Amino acid sequence: MKLNTVILAAGQGTRMRSAHPKVLHRLAGRPLLEHVIDTAEQLHSEAVHVVYGHGGETVPAALAHREVDWVLQAEQLGTGHAVMQAMPTIRDDANVLVLYGDVPLIRASTLTALLEQQADGVALLTVELDDPSGYGRIIRDDQDRVLRIVEHKDASDRERDIREVNTGILSVSAGRLRSWLASLKNNNSQGEYYLTDIIGMAVSEGVTVRVHRIGDPMEAAGVNDRRQLALLERAYQRRCADELMTHGVTFADPARYDQRGRVSVGRDVSIDVNVILEGNVELADNVNIGPNTLIRDSRIGEGVHIMANCVIEDAVVGAHSRIGPYARLRPETELAEHVHIGNFVEIKKSTVATGSKINHLSYVGDTTVGSHVNIGAGTITCNYDGANKHRTVIGDRAFIGSDTQLVAPVTVGDGATIGAGSTITRDTPPEQLTLSKRNAQISVSGWTRPVKKPKTDA
Ligand code: UD1
Ligand code: CA
Repeated sequence: MKLNTVILAAGQGTRMRSAHPKVLHRLAGRPLLEHVIDTAEQLHSEAVHVVYGHGGETVPAALAHREVDWVLQAEQLGTGHAVMQAMPTIRDDANVLVLYGDVPLIRASTLTALLEQQADGVALLTVELDDPSGYGRIIRDDQDRVLRIVEHKDASDRERDIREVNTGILSVSAGRLRSWLASLKNNNSQGEYYLTDIIGMAVSEGVTVRVHRIGDPMEAAGVNDRRQLALLERAYQRRCADELMTHGVTFADPARYDQRGRVSVGRDVSIDVNVILEGNVELADNVNIGPNTLIRDSRIGEGVHIMANCVIEDAVVGAHSRIGPYARLRPETELAEHVHIGNFVEIKKSTVATGSKINHLSYVGDTTVGSHVNIGAGTITCNYDGANKHRTVIGDRAFIGSDTQLVAPVTVGDGATIGAGSTITRDTPPEQLTLSKRNAQISVSGWTRPVKKPKTDA
């Protein structure tokens, strides 16, 4: 049967105390709802229907890049009413899986196991909680067969003692679901059309309800307030760290690692504390990342050592290079192998060939740096004339003296040496020393250093 996933995301989320709809709050840098859409897609759903309402069009607008069917629930009359809104476009012979936009940690593997339970009946995902208050309870008969679900607010004291609760996640054929939804009533304590009432209907029609009980309650945990959001964020981050550890990564402390995207790793990668990896990051074998570093959308080659406090974005770092401490690699930086980028060096939209070193206090932008180049401390490529950007080209084996300005567009020849403190405005010949005109050096006789004034008590 073709799978149609319905994600409920119309609720208000009052306890977030926010101007933004709850499902747009972020977990690992992405909206809660987007995590659930990703999971639905992993199941190869034929269609993913998202029921939205509270927050209006801001929800579809924020996720306009996702291929889902947006279904408006103008008034939030309950979970059953919400699912009903999605039914008109779902054929009877499809299978419907109900998920929640504020339950982001549910695993695709769990849902696959749930769907396998369903057969020709209803599959229901439950979990046992130490504190089940607030949740719908699973009512079973004396042979342990599921009879119905009773909501906390409608439950008796005895029913409230039951610790097996409804996660809300279930699957059933569209045909059956449609007929049951049509007969839902809202004569309960909340005046809502409860999706959970279909379980009782199934049982009374002799349709089997099979339960899949999950072991990890975090999978079914919802976000209702910011404390729960923070809790789920940590749980998610721990999952990411665990996943990397199974691939051979060593963490100084997995609790002090954050991942907001996809990371692929080689063997024997080591990550110190407070490292943040965002977007798509590839770390090859033996990469070593020091503390307090942010890497976004970058490829880091084998054996690279990134020292403390670096920011690396949209860059490629060649094998065995050494970066930092305190280095910034900005977008479109490409470093070849064995490159050294030292402290307080900023590189932007530049390529640096094998074995070159830029070790201290420099800005290199819009530049092509050859191989085995040495760029001295305080070198600046003056790439911007106030209106346009221009390129600098530095040939292989060039040596740029400290405190040099290379005013682009300009080319430094292969093997050229630039004297310290030069301002280079024209191309320099290869294999020669070039110095820019500067003030003559003078010595002043009879000059004495200023002396400190004695302290007065005035
Ligand atoms: C629901 C279940 C309860 C279960 C719990 C798990 C029902 C009646 N109860 O209760 O058995 O233990 O989830 O968390 O289903 N929503 C809409 N439109 C609506 C109402 C809700 O989209 O009209 C969405 C909400 O945004 C939310 C989800 O459905 O994401 C659950 O709704 P909520 O009102 O929070 O249900 P609970 O009372 O938590
Ligand atoms: Ca809820």
